[in-house]
Amino acid sequence: MIRNTATSSLRSPLPGSFYRDEDLFHRVKEEIFLPFWQFAYGPEPRLKALQTRPFTLLADYLDEPMLHTCDAEGVEHLFANVCSHRGTLLVQKAGSCRHIVCPYHGRRFSLEGQCQSQPGLGAVADFPRAEDHLHRPETASWGGLTFARVLPGISFEDWISPLLERVGFLPLETLVHMPERSHTYKVKANWALYVENYLEGLHIPFVHPALREALDLSAYPVETKGHTVLQIGLAKENQPAFDLPAGHPDQGKRIYAWYFWLFPNLMLNFYPWGLSLNLVLPVSPTKTRIQFFTYRFEGQEGGPHTHALHDTELEDESVVESVQKGVRSSLYKPGRLVPAWEDGVLHFHRLLVRHLGL
Ligand code: FES
Ligand SMILES: [Fe+2]
Repeated sequence: MIRNTATSSLRSPLPGSFYRDEDLFHRVKEEIFLPFWQFAYGPEPRLKALQTRPFTLLADYLDEPMLHTCDAEGVEHLFANVCSHRGTLLVQKAGSCRHIVCPYHGRRFSLEGQCQSQPGLGAVADFPRAEDHLHRPETASWGGLTFARVLPGISFEDWISPLLERVGFLPLETLVHMPERSHTYKVKANWALYVENYLEGLHIPFVHPALREALDLSAYPVETKGHTVLQIGLAKENQPAFDLPAGHPDQGKRIYAWYFWLFPNLMLNFYPWGLSLNLVLPVSPTKTRIQFFTYRFEGQEGGPHTHALHDTELEDESVVESVQKGVRSSLYKPGRLVPAWEDGVLHFHRLLVRHLGL
């Protein structure tokens, strides 16, 4: 039993064992990742009519086989890429077709997921029934980003709403993917250590020399709301900043970036040039993959200085891997957190404790 003593002492409620425990790693998958929203795909690839595309949601952790289709009317759908008969994978590679035909026993589905026929069944009453159609996760779209939730859980509106007052004015529907500036990183550390490091700015002056030059660290606002944490990076005078509309809650501030984290594993970093979306993908209790998707707003032809994002990422990985080695020490005990600067870490730990019932 892990006790949450954080409210009185501002100590983390998580012990060192959390970062290497196989059972907890599995419980986090079942009780947190499956019932929370996961990023499924961005503005690209956008499918054309009669195209299908299989992919795996969180390969190596959730390993959920998904099928993205676009019907004859141009409407996109997301299904489990799993036959409703005896469960074989339906589509192996992207392509074009009018129907989906199961390679095992020939059950046929429309691109809207309707089961149409089953060889050998003949004329039987009640076929197809609701359970014969393709099963689908809950899906939601926001500004060209599509999300999926595999098991019942929080509504999309509740999950995303803290972001809207800050970034609702941005032209998110114009985001353009920059594949040449999107990368995958491998980190030898537990996924939660990577998230914790993201959630505090206290390390910036020590770990990120370039960022230290860009940000005005005389203030570093942190807001915790619902299942999100917002960190606000203020720009030094010589740095670009957002043009804020009238009535914006940050009116009067020079905003370098809004750094949003959404429980459990999504980071949305909004800059004047576009969005850096970071996905934290657990692989094992001590291994994590980080996917960076870079999008620019249409018309921002100059694009981001992503070499700076890359350098910052390597600096973060180095320190997170060092923490992974440290927290396995038998003598490690969670230390006192620094109020304001580490409120995001505390919020993350409290959400973990609440959702795991620890
Ligand atoms: S598993 Fe698909 S038709 Fe049998
Ligand atoms: Fe960092």
